[in-house]
Amino acid sequence: MASPLVQLSKVNKHFGDLHVLQDIDLEVNKGEVVILIGPSGSGKSTLCRTINRLETFESGSILIDGVPLPEEGRALAQLRADVGMVFQSFNLFAHKTILENVTLGPMKVRKLARADAEKEAMQLLERVGVAHQAKKVPAQLSGGQQQRVAIARSLAMHPKVMLFDEPTSALDPEMINEVLDVMVELAASGMTMIVVTHEMGFARKAADRVVFMDAGQIVETAVPNEFFANPKTDRAKDFLSKILTH
Ligand SMILES: Nc1ncnc2c1ncn2[C@@H]1O[C@H](COP(=O)(O)OP(=O)(O)OP(=O)(O)O)[C@@H](O)[C@H]1O
Ligand SMILES: [Mg+2]
Repeated sequence: MASPLVQLSKVNKHFGDLHVLQDIDLEVNKGEVVILIGPSGSGKSTLCRTINRLETFESGSILIDGVPLPEEGRALAQLRADVGMVFQSFNLFAHKTILENVTLGPMKVRKLARADAEKEAMQLLERVGVAHQAKKVPAQLSGGQQQRVAIARSLAMHPKVMLFDEPTSALDPEMINEVLDVMVELAASGMTMIVVTHEMGFARKAADRVVFMDAGQIVETAVPNEFFANPKTDRAKDFLSKILTH
C-alpha cells in the first residue's frame, strides 16, 4: 500500500511554557478529506502552520509524500507549492490584479511563461467562478470572491495537499456557501485536504474523517456521522453541545 501523503509522528511543539502540540500522530492518505475541529486555542491553526513549515517543531517527524519537511531554500519553496494553504484572511496582493495574483507563483516557482500561466490561471478562475473579475484588484471583489481567488491561487501551484484554516469564518453568511461549494467540488475532484472548520454541513458532505483536537492533543478521530451522532469522549461531547446550539 502507498504511504500516506501527509504523515505526522509524535510531533511536539511549545510556545514558551505552552505545550501547544503534544505527540501529534496524524496520517492523511491521498484524496482524503480530513476536518480538524476543536475549541479555540486547541492548536488547530498551529498544526496547519507546522505542516506548512510556517512554524518549527521540536521533536517528531512530518513527511509530505514520504519526504521530511525541508528547512530552507529551494526545497522550502517547493514544499510551499506542494502544500497549499488558504487562511481566514485572504492574503491576496492588494496592488496586483486577480489574474496577477494567480500567475505570480507559477511564473516564479514553476517557471511558466506568462502566456501559459495566464491560460491556466483563467481556467482556474473559471472553475471557482470569478474569471470575469480577472482584471480587477482584490478590493473590488467581495470577501467570498476573494477567498475563491485565494483557492485558485493555491491550485495554480499544483499542490499535493491543501490546508484550509477557517476559510469561511471571516465571511458574511451569504458568501459562505459559494466558498464551501468550491471546496466540495475540490474534494470531489480527489484533492487531499485538511480543513479547519466548524461548518458541519461541509463536514458531513465532504469529509472522510473528523479529527477532534483539544488542548494540544488529538482526542478523537471518527467518520463525520459517527462523530457528530456519537462522540466518544466527554471533551468532544462538551464541545459539540456548545457549537451545535448556535
Ligand atoms: N505565535 C505564538 N506565540 C505564542 N503563543 C501562540 C502563538 N500562536 C498561537 N499561540 C497559542 O497557542 C495556542 C493554540 O493556538 P492556535 O491558534 O493554534 O489555536 P486554534 O485551535 O487555531 O484556535 P482558534 O479556534 O481560536 O483559531 C493558543 O493558546 C495560542 O494562544
Ligand atoms: Mg485557529
